[in-house]
Amino acid sequence: MREQSASQAPRVLLTREQIATRIEQLGAQISRDFAGESVLLLAVLKGASIFLADLARSLSLDAQFEFVMAASYGGARHSQGTVSLLQSVAGPVEGRNVILVEDILDTGRTLNYLLRTLQPRNPRQLKVAVLLDKPARRERAVHADYVGFRIPNHFVVGYGMDFDERYRNLPEICILPMAGPPDPAG
Ligand code: IMP
Ligand code: MG
Repeated sequence: MREQSASQAPRVLLTREQIATRIEQLGAQISRDFAGESVLLLAVLKGASIFLADLARSLSLDAQFEFVMAASYGGARHSQGTVSLLQSVAGPVEGRNVILVEDILDTGRTLNYLLRTLQPRNPRQLKVAVLLDKPARRERAVHADYVGFRIPNHFVVGYGMDFDERYRNLPEICILPMAGPPDPAG
């Protein structure tokens, strides 16, 4: 297994202000799209927790929360291989407007798996909101209805996102320079 560790301090990619402004825009868009209806925000633990908190408060809609936890087996730095659910949706999904809330769309494996798991439960609508989209490494076609930022293939931390469970509480989204083989995006 190749050696991977954080080699330098994280550097800011997206500031608190940039994140806040964009999430207000996403919230306004979702509120227009679901005007007069209620939504079930289904967040993917743990990374999407802070995005959920801010997105939810930017909605002028009747909203409920549910959480799933997905695990993908493989390297620490990139999700690889099989996805499984460590915690699935507790409440009913049928007939509801479900918005999957995820931190990063990377290979697409996680969201592809979650969409395939949820669709048979007959939601009224099933939409995807991601804070970050890294299209460079996509392996599974996933349509994200709401995208915060499209970013190059950097490894990012902060604002809920981690490396080895660290850095989730950074208020900005930061690039984590890694030791070992160079980051494909440089
Ligand atoms: P996917 O299944 O490859 O689309 O991966 C999505 C998951 O991989 C995200 O929910 C994150 O947990 C994790 N991930 C992908 N890229 C990064 C990153 O740059 N930083 C932190 N986690 C990441
Ligand atoms: Mg995640």
